[in-house]
Amino acid sequence: MLTKEVSALLNEQINKELYSAYLYLDMANYYADEGLDGFANWFYVQAQEERDHAMLIRTYLQNNEYRVTFDAIAAPDVVFDSYKKPLEAALAHEQLVTASINNIYQVAVDARDYRTMEFLNWFIKEQGEEEKSASDLIRKYELFGNDPKSLYLLDQELGARTYVAPTLVLD
Ligand code: FEO
Repeated sequence: MLTKEVSALLNEQINKELYSAYLYLDMANYYADEGLDGFANWFYVQAQEERDHAMLIRTYLQNNEYRVTFDAIAAPDVVFDSYKKPLEAALAHEQLVTASINNIYQVAVDARDYRTMEFLNWFIKEQGEEEKSASDLIRKYELFGNDPKSLYLLDQELGARTYVAPTLVLD
């Protein structure tokens, strides 16, 4: 049995993950409008991963006899005024998500909720990877984004990203 506090935080995290998906879809829309279909694809795949994160937490809560409830998902509120802006906003957003996951982990530690700690270990690792890929993307853009030919090649590279189902599987 999970504590009320841990369960409520995990339930809130579902909303945060779905908001992440919404935010990344908004970024995909921006790049698609700008003709950068590879960047759009990269964020579309990212949005799919965020939905997976939400569904994993939903299943975990349901497996622990918690009645999941959904709140409204906020509208994405980032204004995109340059190609680089969504990349920076994505990294900042991932850092917020990492802090949120870390907070739930700490509450689970305090509650001696070893089951949730074990569950969240996957998310802790995933956040490390997501922050790295977001900051790698900024770096690549800084290196290649100001030259049209290089930007075209970077867009092609990002267009090759494909969706991969999460390695964490819950029955
Ligand atoms: Fe699900 Fe990108 O955090």
